[in-house]
Amino acid sequence: MSASGTASGLRLPEHLPAATRAYFAGGAGDEVTLNANVAAWRSIGLRPRVLATPRSVDTSVTLLGRRWPTPWLAAPMAHLALAHPDAELGLALASAAQGAGMVLSTQATTPLEQVARAVLPEAARGPLWFQLYPYGERDDWLRLAERARCAGFEAIVLTVDAPLQWPSDRERTHGFALPADWPQPNLPAAPGRGALETLLARALCWDDVAWLCERSPLPVLLKGITHPADAAQAATIAQGVVVSNHGGRVLDGLPATATVLPAIVQAVGGRVPVLVDGGLRRGLDALKALALGANAVLVGRPLIGALSQGGVQAVAALWRHWLDE
Ligand code: FNR
Repeated sequence: MSASGTASGLRLPEHLPAATRAYFAGGAGDEVTLNANVAAWRSIGLRPRVLATPRSVDTSVTLLGRRWPTPWLAAPMAHLALAHPDAELGLALASAAQGAGMVLSTQATTPLEQVARAVLPEAARGPLWFQLYPYGERDDWLRLAERARCAGFEAIVLTVDAPLQWPSDRERTHGFALPADWPQPNLPAAPGRGALETLLARALCWDDVAWLCERSPLPVLLKGITHPADAAQAATIAQGVVVSNHGGRVLDGLPATATVLPAIVQAVGGRVPVLVDGGLRRGLDALKALALGANAVLVGRPLIGALSQGGVQAVAALWRHWLDE
């Protein structure tokens, strides 16, 4: 496989260093989950009825009590300044202008306040949510959630599927490393390093999630659910579930998200919204996700492809294309 990474459905421009392309395009292990995500949406066929064309089309969704113009949000993605100087601000502006939502990563290269200032004035924007990695202590998480609320963010997306992070084989092969003094203006504390036992002892558990959900100034959605039993438990604690395997970046061998979505929708039973990400590569895939019961979708690597090709304008064009489709 080339570092450009075609199997994941992502083409990255050759002007990006091979190591950067490996970081964005790659996944864990043999990339079985990464590729399965894409293949699963493609394998789902449509079974339409003819002679019943609707006279109008409404792409809006209602999430957490508010109506948004589109059913999609940019997934949280770290280090976007490696893709293009427009980085998170470009992604945020283009998404807001096209009625798409945005989930800003804890590991963004742009301060969360700056992103909020750019997005909030846009009348037809989608939701603005902040993704939280539980680094540091419990109080650090709460402080960051409060900082996001003050800036104008509307929900917290707590990522629960990455207790440990390590470089993928592709990153190792190409020697990916962040530049020295890389900006991480939203990180409350350095990500955990140290012996495996130390990292495991610090790993998030249900008690931590309940603690945060009780105190959070914003609704909390759990991102990284792939098991219906976890989804059912999440629905009793949190305000939403994101069916995700981290785009196949953390644990290879997890099922494709399209294949687990129906059982999770059933387990949640409409108590909270269910979102899904992983392998969606065009508007039609989002339609399939909605037909399977998702309330909205998150989009990852396609936006990195657009951003790295042409910054803010290319991202806007991608969202426009999804809506037209
Ligand atoms: C991610 N993802 C991610 N998720 C998260 O919760 N916090 C993060 O900081 C990141 N960072 C990140 C960086 C890069 C380069 C990628 C590609 C992905 C995972 C992301 O939110 C989402 O779950 C997947 O990207 C969805 O899969 P697709 O659309 O990329 O196939």
